[in-house]
Amino acid sequence: MSNVHLIDHPLVQHKLTLMRRKDASTNTFRTLLNELSSLMAYEVTRDMLLQDVEVETPLETMTGKVIDGKKLVFVSILRAGNGILEGMLSVVPGARVGHVGLYRDPQTLQPVEYYFKMPQEMEARDIVIVDPMLATGNSAIAAVDRLKKLKPKSIKFVCLLTCPEGIAALQKAHPDVAIYTAAIDRQLNEHGYILPGLGDAGDRIFGTK
Ligand code: URA
Repeated sequence: MSNVHLIDHPLVQHKLTLMRRKDASTNTFRTLLNELSSLMAYEVTRDMLLQDVEVETPLETMTGKVIDGKKLVFVSILRAGNGILEGMLSVVPGARVGHVGLYRDPQTLQPVEYYFKMPQEMEARDIVIVDPMLATGNSAIAAVDRLKKLKPKSIKFVCLLTCPEGIAALQKAHPDVAIYTAAIDRQLNEHGYILPGLGDAGDRIFGTK
């Protein structure tokens, strides 16, 4: 589990618990996800490179540090990944955004790609893939497989929740991809849902059930 970062900040844990409650409304769920995503963004961007810039304060000139947010690309795995985007962008507003459309075949649980749109010059960029649930790992692996063909500088994967099966699958396929998560739950069920989990993240974000 060397490449797994469990974000156990009390605020993250508190909000995640509120999101798990089955009677949390769509509005509450979405608001909490937004807040939680911004908190997670701090951890995920902790090692971002800084560059020196000259800045004039009201008193004198000094050398300050800035990040180049444009080098960072958040890649949302549709559709649930979009629930994480807003919170992440509130912390890194200069970041670019890509989208990967994958759906899970309900029989095989294998991902099928239906959309792929990225910013240009991906070789110069650091990618942060966002998807609330790392469950079977199939979508995550398919997204990383596809993104690696663009030869980005680095790839990280951020989710709210995962389970031992999802971590093992992604780490086996892509040991170089660091996983950031707010919780590692007990297990997957036979339908590919995380237990105890929080249900279907897409349905809960968009109120589709
Ligand atoms: N996707 C979800 O939305 N929830 C799960 O528990 C697993 C995959």
